[in-house]
Amino acid sequence: PATLRVGIAGLGTVGVGVVRLLAANAELIATRAGRPIAITAVAARDRTRERGVDLSGLRWHDDARGLAGDPDVDVVVELIGGAEGPARQLVEASLAAGRPVVTANKALIAIHGASLAAMAERSAVPLCFEAAVAGGIPVIKAVREGLAADRLTRVGGILNGTCNYILTAMRESGRDFASILAEAQALGYAEADPSTDIDGIDAAHKLAILAALAFGRPVDFASVHVEGIRAVGALDIAFAQELGYRIKLLGIARLAEAGVEARVHPCLVPQTMPIALVDGVFNAVFAEGDFVGRVMLEGRGAGAGPTASAVVADLIDVARGTTIPVWGANAEHLSQVVSVPIGER
Ligand code: HSE
Repeated sequence: PATLRVGIAGLGTVGVGVVRLLAANAELIATRAGRPIAITAVAARDRTRERGVDLSGLRWHDDARGLAGDPDVDVVVELIGGAEGPARQLVEASLAAGRPVVTANKALIAIHGASLAAMAERSAVPLCFEAAVAGGIPVIKAVREGLAADRLTRVGGILNGTCNYILTAMRESGRDFASILAEAQALGYAEADPSTDIDGIDAAHKLAILAALAFGRPVDFASVHVEGIRAVGALDIAFAQELGYRIKLLGIARLAEAGVEARVHPCLVPQTMPIALVDGVFNAVFAEGDFVGRVMLEGRGAGAGPTASAVVADLIDVARGTTIPVWGANAEHLSQVVSVPIGER
């Protein structure tokens, strides 16, 4: 069967991870996908930078939008990031051209997901974003497919690897915030602008996506209450520890009478709760359903390997034609659109 030809926009940590994973596991991926998956084109700013992977023979685009019209590309992988600009333009152009899109872009999906979903639906092409939430943990599949039979009432978790890494290292080492942040950046966990992580915005993007899918309705991102970890000091962490708690940045969304309530802020979590023990770059996602009860998944929420794993899993779905519509089983609830703010921004 014909090879699935991939065009990748963005060759940062995750992009290079995708190139590596597709090469390292090529044979098993081809078996599982029913056909080979190969990169044919890339769009990245710097052609000459040494990335430690073989990019010979690929078509280069200086303008990422070129991938939407490249005749040797069957599916576009968007790893540029950002809710606007080139990332949004590329995804919209690709969907409009009837080309499937796989993206790791949480800001884009959190803010424009509903309209992009409508575009994908009109063009009858898949829009996949497993990598946008909690890195390597297959939470989009879990919420949309594994829990498709349940009425979900709560969803959330530890959704930012950089913050969890910093809070963990502060507790364990007593080191200062700045040096730990630099370490998280060097490991490829942090966003290009790390204030997106530290101020809770990245976690809020992921929570908005999870909540929208779990409750089957668009969530207005502006109504998500967001508070980051800047104000958490060494003393807070020490006192929490003494009282039997750990400080975790949690995202929590629940379905209330009036609509979806979603919030991200540092929480005191009793040390005996499983989620309190999720440390370092690990994320945890929980969901509560009327029949399944409480479910929690844990794994690496950031970094090249875990995020590439989710991107390539989406590519395998595209290759074998087993993608599901953006809203999954919950599409039927779409008419009840509300989201409500909590407290003050
Ligand atoms: N900056 C993000 C994090 C990367 O630290 O979790 C994964 O989305």
